[in-house]
Amino acid sequence: MDKENNIIYLNGNYMPVAEATISVMDRGFLFGDGVYEVIPVFGDKLLRPDEHLDRLQNSLDRISLSNPHSNDEWLAIFSGLLNKNDGEGRAVYLQISRGVYPKRDLGVKAEYPATVFSMVLQVVPPDIEVVSAGISVITVDDFRWGACDIKSTSLVANVMLKQQAAAADVQDAILIKNCMVSEGTASNVFIVKDDVLITPPTGHKLLPGITRDLVIEIAKNNTILVEEREVKEAELYTADEIWMTSSTREIAPVIRLNSEAVGAGAAGEKWKRMVDLYQRYKQQLRSR
Ligand code: PDD
Repeated sequence: MDKENNIIYLNGNYMPVAEATISVMDRGFLFGDGVYEVIPVFGDKLLRPDEHLDRLQNSLDRISLSNPHSNDEWLAIFSGLLNKNDGEGRAVYLQISRGVYPKRDLGVKAEYPATVFSMVLQVVPPDIEVVSAGISVITVDDFRWGACDIKSTSLVANVMLKQQAAAADVQDAILIKNCMVSEGTASNVFIVKDDVLITPPTGHKLLPGITRDLVIEIAKNNTILVEEREVKEAELYTADEIWMTSSTREIAPVIRLNSEAVGAGAAGEKWKRMVDLYQRYKQQLRSR
């Protein structure tokens, strides 16, 4: 019998999603007081689980919340979920909130048990033919806070920015702070100029993407020059290529920026090379 793909994990138990409930007093619900991760799965292998769990630890440290599980416990939770849900394109989502407190109070006077939730996301595996058609984006003012390195569930700003892109009838937005590129609404940004791959450095202005780091690593291993440095907004308009990277999107070529063609107005040569290398990395991971 086919698995129903609706089994989630909540606070120690696996259950159908329809049976999962949390309190209205949960701080995740009231304040977005929590952090999350999205880990891609190829075959039954997680992509870079250690790096995702390190980033989770960093997010937890930044909001002063104890990690409720060891890495081995997390991996056991994920493998339980992956066994109970099938499907081709999958990713594991996990979220930890500061839990249920007796009063709606911003202050944290005692530590209550965190709420731990995890589920399998059905992600459509990016089809290279479709992806190579490229995406259109706009630039928008990055009005978010100064702690964008925390993978926080408080995502209302990102939702608003993504809505701006939808209102402009494009797929995404590149966020600009003080005339510098920070990232996408849920992805990191790379430009290619004169054969060099350039991306903004990590810090408080952006999420240190696991896909970003993997792209940098693959590039360096294949003698593609990489620079991690500030990227001026103006450089977007003279770039040969622009890419947006994330766990779910992988590496998307941007072909139009604010209605103008990027480079030749089609996915570039460097993108083709990188996607090929990235697909090979995924295949190796699957067969490991
Ligand atoms: N988002 N920047 C932001 C703001 C993000 O939300 C994400 C990922 C990234 C890319 O990180 P990674 O390569 O580790 O996925 C950058 C996930 C996919 C999400 O929110 O669904």
